[in-house]
Amino acid sequence: MERLQKFLAAAGIASRRKSEELIQQGRVKVNGQVVTTLGAKIDPSRDRIHIDGKPLDTKEEPVYILLNKPKGYISTVRDTHGRKTVMDLIPKHMGRLYPVGRLDSQTTGLLLLTNDGELTYKLTHPKHEFSKTYRTLVKGKITHEAINQLEQGIPLEDGLTAPAIVNVLEIKDGKSLVEITIHEGKNRQVRRMFQAVGFPVQNLKRISFGFLNLKGVSPGKFRMLTSYEINNLKRSVL
Ligand code: URA
Repeated sequence: MERLQKFLAAAGIASRRKSEELIQQGRVKVNGQVVTTLGAKIDPSRDRIHIDGKPLDTKEEPVYILLNKPKGYISTVRDTHGRKTVMDLIPKHMGRLYPVGRLDSQTTGLLLLTNDGELTYKLTHPKHEFSKTYRTLVKGKITHEAINQLEQGIPLEDGLTAPAIVNVLEIKDGKSLVEITIHEGKNRQVRRMFQAVGFPVQNLKRISFGFLNLKGVSPGKFRMLTSYEINNLKRSVL
């Protein structure tokens, strides 16, 4: 829900003050009723707005963003404890966007943000098994046994993980750099999987989401998805 005058201003109808005047002058109707109170709230996705009898198109333009999340930002829209959120990295004029799934505050890398609720729902639905690849620095020299367990499935308290694909990139100074591809989105899944096999995660970065990767997007920066990518995402969850 949003204040009517704020919504009118954001929709480019007039400045906030002029929008307030329009309302007070009785020129704005919400669902057929003239609204003259300034505190009135509307739901832009449902309510029909008319100004001087003309309908206002309240449908938001779909926006699709690929963000390279740095450490220290949480993946929610607003935080009640005043912590930094991924929305602090996106200009306000992009409107209200929502993360597709979550990355922990200490996890970096690829996070999609969109106002397309239907696509978000589909992309995060386990049925579609979107693959997500993480580059993980773990403590210890990873063993074949641990890799086998990760690949076959780890019994976590919320169920057995689906088979993963594991690639060891480097073992050095008592640490292992490992890439793991999973198809689910359980809470803190990668950290819990490595913890369960005795190799605690020290650094975690999501480097790809399906066919999307971080190429050309530095930490803290974002880019818009191309229409080709958007269509591809939509097609892959049909
Ligand atoms: N797995 C985790 O443990 N953390 C994330 O942020 C994402 C996947």
